[in-house]
Amino acid sequence: MDTRNPVTINRLDYQPTDWLIDHVSLQFELDPTATLVTSELTLSRNPAAGQESNGPGPGLTLQGSDCELRSVSLDGVKLAPEDYQLSATELHIAQLPEHCVLVIVTCINPESNTALEGLYRSSGNFCTQCEAEGFRKITYYLDRPDVLSVFDVTITADVATCPVMLANGNRVSHEVLEGGRHRVQWHDPHPKPSYLFALVAGDLAHIEDHFTTASGRKVLLQIYVEAHNIDRCDFAMSSLKASMRWDEEVYGLEYDLDCFMIVAVDDFNMGAMENKGLNVFNSRFVLADAQSATDTDYMGVEAVIAHEYFHNWTGNRITCRDWFQLSLKEGLTVFRDQSFSSDRHSATVKRIEDVRLLRARQFAEDSGPMAHPIRPDSYIEINNFYTLTVYEKGAEVIRMLHTLLGPVKWRQAMDVYVERHDGTATTCDAFVDAMQTVADVDLTQFRRWYSTAGTPEVRVSEEYDSQNARFHLTLSQSCPDTPGQSDKLPLHIPVVMGLLDQQGNSLSLSNGRALAAAVDSSQTDAQRGVLLDLTEASQTFTFEGVDAAPVVSLLRGFSAPVKLVHDVTDETLAFLMANDPDTFNRWEAGQRLATRLILGVLQEGRINADTLASLGQAWGLILADDSLDMAFKAEALSLPTIDTLEGSLEQVDYQALIAAHAMVSTALAEKHAEALCVLVTETRQAGVALLDPAAMSGRKLANTALALLTWLPESLWGPLAAAQYAAADNMTDRIAALAALCHGDSAARQDCLDDFHAKAIGNRLVMDKWFAVQATSRRSSIVEDVAALLQHADFEAGNPNRLRSLVASFALNNPGGFHAANGQGYRFLADQVIALDSRNPQVAARLVSPLGHWKRLAGPARDLMRQELVRIRDSGPLSPDVFELVSKALQ
Ligand code: TRP
Ligand code: ZN
Repeated sequence: MDTRNPVTINRLDYQPTDWLIDHVSLQFELDPTATLVTSELTLSRNPAAGQESNGPGPGLTLQGSDCELRSVSLDGVKLAPEDYQLSATELHIAQLPEHCVLVIVTCINPESNTALEGLYRSSGNFCTQCEAEGFRKITYYLDRPDVLSVFDVTITADVATCPVMLANGNRVSHEVLEGGRHRVQWHDPHPKPSYLFALVAGDLAHIEDHFTTASGRKVLLQIYVEAHNIDRCDFAMSSLKASMRWDEEVYGLEYDLDCFMIVAVDDFNMGAMENKGLNVFNSRFVLADAQSATDTDYMGVEAVIAHEYFHNWTGNRITCRDWFQLSLKEGLTVFRDQSFSSDRHSATVKRIEDVRLLRARQFAEDSGPMAHPIRPDSYIEINNFYTLTVYEKGAEVIRMLHTLLGPVKWRQAMDVYVERHDGTATTCDAFVDAMQTVADVDLTQFRRWYSTAGTPEVRVSEEYDSQNARFHLTLSQSCPDTPGQSDKLPLHIPVVMGLLDQQGNSLSLSNGRALAAAVDSSQTDAQRGVLLDLTEASQTFTFEGVDAAPVVSLLRGFSAPVKLVHDVTDETLAFLMANDPDTFNRWEAGQRLATRLILGVLQEGRINADTLASLGQAWGLILADDSLDMAFKAEALSLPTIDTLEGSLEQVDYQALIAAHAMVSTALAEKHAEALCVLVTETRQAGVALLDPAAMSGRKLANTALALLTWLPESLWGPLAAAQYAAADNMTDRIAALAALCHGDSAARQDCLDDFHAKAIGNRLVMDKWFAVQATSRRSSIVEDVAALLQHADFEAGNPNRLRSLVASFALNNPGGFHAANGQGYRFLADQVIALDSRNPQVAARLVSPLGHWKRLAGPARDLMRQELVRIRDSGPLSPDVFELVSKALQ
């Protein structure tokens, strides 16, 4: 694409396709540098296409790029060059009969494919990545998600290098050929768009198991990896079986092929891909064992396995009409994987983790140059729209529908959605239509969530009328302007809330809708609270029969993705921390108190002693409360991160914010130093299974305590960390100890780093951690340290995981280093983007985002960051991916 004249695609320009592909038969003659692809398309005119009155029918335009066209035949007759037009991105044939067969032969070079899109090589094996528009790098095709076709795939390759040859669906034949070659055939009976096509071939080992579906179908499950990883697949397999069972139990959705395969590859642009029957994964979301994976890694494997599996229905059986509808499958599938994890572990802790991510990263996106609705209106490069907004905010929108409908109607509505749209490509509007068929509430206004960018703000004021025993709660909403959107209309915001009396008892409320009880809830109706429908710009809710001024608990469970502005006293927040029956809001009250304390330092230059006393005391209660889940305690003892705090500020002076955060962290650690030391040494459970829930929670609490202690002099915690490193029998404790040591400058730091490195040799995921742990250190020499690591023999710029472990860890998880006052951090990142863009635009574009927020910066940092964007812009011809982000950021 010519980036001097980039093409913007608009949502409202959607047109149905003129042609359908009823069947496609693909033949691959695999060769590392010259793979021949023969594609036979059975075409017919689309009866639903816009009809031109008389005259010849429309021509056919197929997308294709980076593939060398060898020949085209129409109904058995080879076309001459003058019978078609070929450009860098399209193949056009002007005249075809209404039904015809087109055979296209292309030649592609997987070995030189560094963008990791289309057919490429990873560790000497062949694999594909076609979402969103990678199939066009394999052959000329109608590469759009609303063209569904039945695929037959034949693969021929050397037996020696490619003993394993996989594609979607069921394997229907295998034959050994002359010359050391062999051939397999795969048939996928389910019509699918090209982005779900997959092929994998190479020398892979696998484990296998079976799953019997609710209706009795026996499904073969296989996980393919490089042979040296074969012992690290068991957890992924059990996660897969749990996901399959969960989707049957919770949604009544069964698997629909005879086999389900997962392949792990080391070189992958994102997390994983839901290709029909053949999911391809970044190995980081498959491989796990005690010596290489942290508890967080295990939870990540489980969640991503579930996510991709759940796509079999929400994404594959029912797919997207066009890429603007991406959240139709991604928001819904994230919501489903979140529910799955929440059912298997602590629901509150899972919710806290999800909300932390949303606030830290999605809120930033919503307030930056790329702010877009969960259903965007335009794009230059669709790969740039696989965003936290489409995924995470998209999941929040689904969650709000779940809250508005209640669990029973939600399930009925999902049944309607599946029933209506199975086997088709559809839209977000059609999804809400399905919800509306069973919902009691009118969802017309709710649909604005799909078209509104930006994070709404809800302001709260309270008034207690003691004479009439009435309590008035006024909620006012507004949503900030975002690029291309201003004066937004009010949204339908579900606000779950409750009132407490001064003793902490829940009041029965005379206003609001009742909340359906969760199946195993031990809570009373009053404790659960009610649902208020906030639909106006400003709305007052009155509660009768309130005998004394109550304490309000708002937005329980974070019932809507908004910023709440509610001015209450420190005492009220401390009271909610101790008494709110909604555990999420107990955590939230602590976060608000901590935020107030940190932002107070920014304003007053010192810590407010009263607020510190309140929070310190509340922490003391939490530390002493043995009835609390240790993982919850860990969350309650974790301060909001810099990227979350930033959301409360108009203009950000990072150096000042980081200093204020450090000051508060230090003060709290000092106050509770003794208790924290005890937690580090005494919370771990000996002699229980690695993934025992109490053992995992114990590690989380102990390592949170250790991280807090690192704000104090190293003499206090250094020996604890070194001892923990030496004694650790699992990766969670080992890496937490190493991370602590990395902030300091002790001899133990270098010793442990060297030891970790030596043990990481031969395990790429562990080596990634060695880079990441150094990239997130608070050492003052961090920018030079990171630059030096770029030169390390084990650094591989061509491997996305390795690159992210150093560069993205630094830019996203090391605010002190990235925002270094002299702008060195920004320059470092810009250099990496420039170096990577011509090799892998998709990954390069992901690295640009942190530089896009220069307008929010205060002081000299603002211009320093902007200069780096300008430098990228002027560095030469850019990919459309990087071009779009840089030009939008500079607008
Ligand atoms: N659809 C995938 C998921 O969310 C993600 C995905 C989109 C992807 N584009 C990709 C993965 C490119 C790898 C490369 O599950
Ligand atoms: Zn997905």
